[in-house]
Amino acid sequence: MKDERILTNLALKEDEDKVLRPQTLGEYVGQNDIKEMLDIYIKAAKKRNEAIDHILFYGPPGLGKTTLAQIVANEMNVSIKITSGPAIERSGDLAAILTSLEPGDILFIDEIHRLPRVVEEVLYAAMEDYVIDILIGKDSQTRSIRIDLPPFTLIGATTRFGSLSAPLRERFGVVFKLNFYTEEDLSNIARRTSRVYETKISEAAVHELAKRSRGTPRIVNRLFRRVRDFAEIIGDGTINKEITEHALSKLGISSSGLDEADLEYLKALIEKFNGGPVGIENISATISEDPVTVEDVYEPFLLQEGYIKRTPRGRVALEKAYQLLGIKYYKGLFDNEG
Ligand SMILES: Nc1ncnc2c1ncn2[C@@H]1O[C@H](COP(=O)(O)OP(=O)(O)OP(=O)(O)O)[C@@H](O)[C@H]1O
Ligand SMILES: [Mg+2]
Repeated sequence: MKDERILTNLALKEDEDKVLRPQTLGEYVGQNDIKEMLDIYIKAAKKRNEAIDHILFYGPPGLGKTTLAQIVANEMNVSIKITSGPAIERSGDLAAILTSLEPGDILFIDEIHRLPRVVEEVLYAAMEDYVIDILIGKDSQTRSIRIDLPPFTLIGATTRFGSLSAPLRERFGVVFKLNFYTEEDLSNIARRTSRVYETKISEAAVHELAKRSRGTPRIVNRLFRRVRDFAEIIGDGTINKEITEHALSKLGISSSGLDEADLEYLKALIEKFNGGPVGIENISATISEDPVTVEDVYEPFLLQEGYIKRTPRGRVALEKAYQLLGIKYYKGLFDNEG
C-alpha cells in the first residue's frame, strides 16, 4: 500500500493514540441518535440489574465502533473482553472465553462477519439462552455436554453488514449503523484533540482538517498529529491554516478530502471504463486493490459524497467525479470545447 494513502489506509491503527479515545457517552462526539438510544438502554439495564441486550455496530472503518463498545462497558461498570472473528478459530476457543465471563460482562467481537461457521453456530445458543453445547470425546465416544453461562452481552462490530448470516443478525437485540461525521462533528473532535494534546489550533485550521478528513474521526486525529509535527518544526507549535494547508498538500491530500487512492479509483472508472457501469472486480483489478477493501473503505465515502453510484450493472461515475477530475486531469478536453 502506498504511503500517501493516508486517508483510505484505515486498516492502519497502530499510530492511534489511546488517550484520544472517548471514555463516556458524553465525551463521544456526534452519532446523536445512537448515543440517545444507548443512554436509555444502559440506564434501563442498570436499573433492572441485568446485562444489556446484545448490540451490533456496523459501518465503515474508523467511525467509532470499538470506541462505543468500550464506552458501553465503561458506562455499565462491567469488564469487556476484546477479540475478533478470525481470532476465534474453534468452538473450544469461544467456550473458553464465554465461561470466563462474569455476570453482566461484555464480550466484544470485532470483524464478527469473519467468525468461522462452526463457532458462529455455538454462539447462537450462547446469545439466546446463555448456554453452550460442546462435543467432547472422539469417534463413537462423542457426547455433547451443556454448560450454563452467566448472563453476558455480546457486542459485535463489522464493516460488512451484508456478510453477516441472517441467524446471527437476528440474535442482536439492537443494531446500530454508524454514519460518516459532519464537518461540525469533526471540528469538535479536532478541538477535543487539541485540548488533550495541549496544542493550540486556529479555528480556520480546525475547519480545514474537518473538511479533509473523509468524514472519519480516525482520520481527523491522524491528520491532526501530522500537522502538529509541521507546526512544531516549521512554526511556533500553534497549528494555523497556513501550516495546515502546507502539511496537507505535502501529504497529498486534495482540498476535496479525497486522497490518491480515491482519485485513482475515480480516474480508472472514468478513463478506463468510460464512467461505467463496471463491476467491482474489474475496477479493483485496475487499481490493484482487493475488492473487499474497495467496497468497505473507498466506496462508502464516494457514494455518500455523490461521486459514484451503484447500479445493478455496476459502478457509475457521477457528474461530480467528472468535475473533480476535469479540473485536474482533463484540462485539454475542456480547452478544445472552449
Ligand atoms: N465519536 C467520536 N468522538 C471522538 N473521537 C472518536 C469518535 N469516534 C472515534 N473516535 C476516535 O477515532 C478512533 C477510531 O475509532 P474506532 O477505533 O472506535 O473505530 P472503528 O469503527 O472501531 O474502526 P474499525 O472498523 O477500523 O475497527 C478512536 O481511537 C477515537 O480516538
Ligand atoms: Mg474497531
